[in-house]
Amino acid sequence: MHEAMRTLSRLEKTLFRLQAQHACMDWLFEQIRNRPGVVAELGLGHGRTFDHLKRHLPEREIYVFDFANDAYADCQPDPDFLILGDIAETFPAALARFAGRVALANSDIGSFDRERNVASAALASRLLPEAMAPGGFIMSDLPLTLPGFITLPLPPGAREGRYYLYQRPL
Ligand SMILES: C[S@@+](CC[C@H](N)C(=O)[O-])C[C@H]1O[C@@H](n2cnc3c(N)ncnc32)[C@H](O)[C@@H]1O
Repeated sequence: MHEAMRTLSRLEKTLFRLQAQHACMDWLFEQIRNRPGVVAELGLGHGRTFDHLKRHLPEREIYVFDFANDAYADCQPDPDFLILGDIAETFPAALARFAGRVALANSDIGSFDRERNVASAALASRLLPEAMAPGGFIMSDLPLTLPGFITLPLPPGAREGRYYLYQRPL
């Protein structure tokens, strides 16, 4: 079958998502190098993306959200910055700690459940704008609706449609 005619397998979706995450993060580490601000990780999961953020941004405060802590032992966030519960409730409650100061947010709360993804994308779209610093970047596994934000092309190494990049204007 011609490549363009078939849909992606789950293996490919996962592979391309991880590739895109890695490429976006590496590009964003450069973009925020000289910008102050904290980091927000929505969706700790097993801690893979958190671990990458922590290794590359060791001096930054990284606020981490999830329902529960299911991260590998060597990918544990600082307990003072780990906020457990439904993001719909925990994020607004914690906002005073970082409102307008997030230089980089990774929203990684999608799943293979299409309906849940619609709700998760709406949730991230509603919550993130107030948190973002001027010029701050959002990378997301789901397409977000962010009026006033700039939609950026993905960097080399990331396939279009596998991750999404946005920036709050300066
Ligand atoms: C794809 S996984 C995250 C993977 C993780 N970033 C990693 O690299 O290991 C998505 C995570 O988002 C979390 N999540 C989704 N919706 C949430 C919500 N409303 N509140 C809290 N956590 C949520 C899930 O519990 C799950 O752990």
